Amino acid sequence: MSVSDRIVAVRAQFPVMERLLYLDSAHQTPLATSVRAALEAFYTQGYELAGPKPVWLSRAEDVRRQVARFFNASPNEIAFTKNTSEGLNIAANAVPLNAGDNVVLIEGDHPNNAYAWLNLKRRGVQVRFAKLRDDEIATAQTFAPYIDERTKVITLSHVTFHAGQIHDLAGIGRLCEQRGILLVVDAMQSVGVVPVDVKALGISVLAAGTHKGLLVPQGLGILYVKEGLDALQPAYVGMSSVARPPADYIARPDDLELRADAGRFEYGNLNLPDLHALSASIDLIEGIGVPEILKHVTALGDRLIAHLDELGIALIGPRERGQRAHIYVLKVPVQKWADHFERHRVRVSPERGGIRVSFGMFNTPEDVDRLAEVVRHGLTDGVGDGTSDAAADVD
Ligand SMILES: Cc1ncc(COP(=O)(O)O)c(C=O)c1O
Repeated sequence: MSVSDRIVAVRAQFPVMERLLYLDSAHQTPLATSVRAALEAFYTQGYELAGPKPVWLSRAEDVRRQVARFFNASPNEIAFTKNTSEGLNIAANAVPLNAGDNVVLIEGDHPNNAYAWLNLKRRGVQVRFAKLRDDEIATAQTFAPYIDERTKVITLSHVTFHAGQIHDLAGIGRLCEQRGILLVVDAMQSVGVVPVDVKALGISVLAAGTHKGLLVPQGLGILYVKEGLDALQPAYVGMSSVARPPADYIARPDDLELRADAGRFEYGNLNLPDLHALSASIDLIEGIGVPEILKHVTALGDRLIAHLDELGIALIGPRERGQRAHIYVLKVPVQKWADHFERHRVRVSPERGGIRVSFGMFNTPEDVDRLAEVVRHGLTDGVGDGTSDAAADVD
């Protein structure tokens, strides 16, 4: 089957598309049939057998291997968390930072990454914000003016939630390597849509949730910690973090050695249902291939941009191919258009400065044309174009 036939076939896995025009994959994923089946199989085992936990735990290790392959990492570099924000907070509290050290972020990047590091201000850590326009991408040059010998971490989203930029991680990774700086990446929006090869991109730590491009319901996160970063130590410790978990479940004060691998950052039961779902979703995604998904959503973006140009509506993020993937924010007054799209059963997200349209692998060129028709109706009905003050409507 050709790639385009496989993409058409995958749409049948998302029956919600028969009910509404779903263009909100950057918010959360609709459940796919095969992912739902994996969850149901898990619940059936819990319901009928009271849960074969050893089997579930051994499957979790299979999923760890599957996730590791997905990121070109090794299984001992992968820990499971509950979401992106937990992973970023784990990273912020694991890096040995002293008063006077600094961390550089991009102004306006996801607030949960900013808060994880701003929380260190009470320890005297300086947080610096690099400036970047929404229609340009971050490169090594973006960060160069902000770093010095006390810079220990550069941290940013791979793909931004608010403008859809794909930042140049490879270039930023090289800068970090040259300067001995850790690169901590929030891959929430890129994972499953844009290839993420942690080695090629020079990533030290990566945090992501699984409820967007990875097609799993909320509550499971992935943390990659590069092998050899032994100075990174967990703030939270439980039995699964220690090198020799006591068989009798009695903690011994003289045996606190932690695991050397990323497992030192896990400290309790894992989200086993979602891990089962994740295995099915990675199979689904790999049935098409992440590079093909990226090509597909980029082509949908090309089509959308052509429509927007014709309709006279501006884009907030970059227009250039290679700098954008599945997220497109239309510069229109937010509240009026959010209501208009809801009336027409189009699911999109209000975003700062506009309305965010985001594609999943199941979206088609016809979806883009339908969206354009709904926008055209809105303009005819006087909902308003981007020439009025969009900022006034930001929510
Ligand atoms: C770029 C980015 N980072 C972090 C988050 C927060 O994700 P989580 O709920 O997994 O912590 C989001 C969610 O929308 C996001 O888009």
